[in-house]
Amino acid sequence: MTLENSKIRRIILVEHEGLRIGLRALDGLLDQVAQGEVSALKSAREQVDALLQTFIRHVEHEERILRPVLETVDAWGAARVKSMDEEHTEQRKVVSRLAELDPVSDPAAWARQVRTFGAELLRDMADEEKTCLSPDVLRDDIVAVQGDSE
Ligand SMILES: [Fe+2]
Ligand SMILES: [Fe+2]
Repeated sequence: MTLENSKIRRIILVEHEGLRIGLRALDGLLDQVAQGEVSALKSAREQVDALLQTFIRHVEHEERILRPVLETVDAWGAARVKSMDEEHTEQRKVVSRLAELDPVSDPAAWARQVRTFGAELLRDMADEEKTCLSPDVLRDDIVAVQGDSE
């Protein structure tokens, strides 16, 4: 299956929007956890786990559909791919660390780390949207083929 660049761009942007919605939905729960409300811990944990899984699927998706296009899209392809690979390696590490943390032993510290992850994720998505997901990079080029005049 071949996807047009504009379609790839739209798919990834929709995923980013979903992640932003997930982060916003967590905000109130994290406040409650930080304030010591034990009753909020279980659903906060479940929502964070779900968000981390969604994020990892997003990273895999970028690698499957966006990475091959970036590689060839312009003269900066190799640098774009290198920076994506480095970013994703680091993000996978952060996600595994976060998934292993026990929110029960220090809920406020856990809520802080989730917030730090969220802030970094927002920055990363904004950065991707300015660089490799910009419409200037992911253009659907119209290739004019001059036919024979017969
Ligand atoms: Fe990414
Ligand atoms: Fe992304």
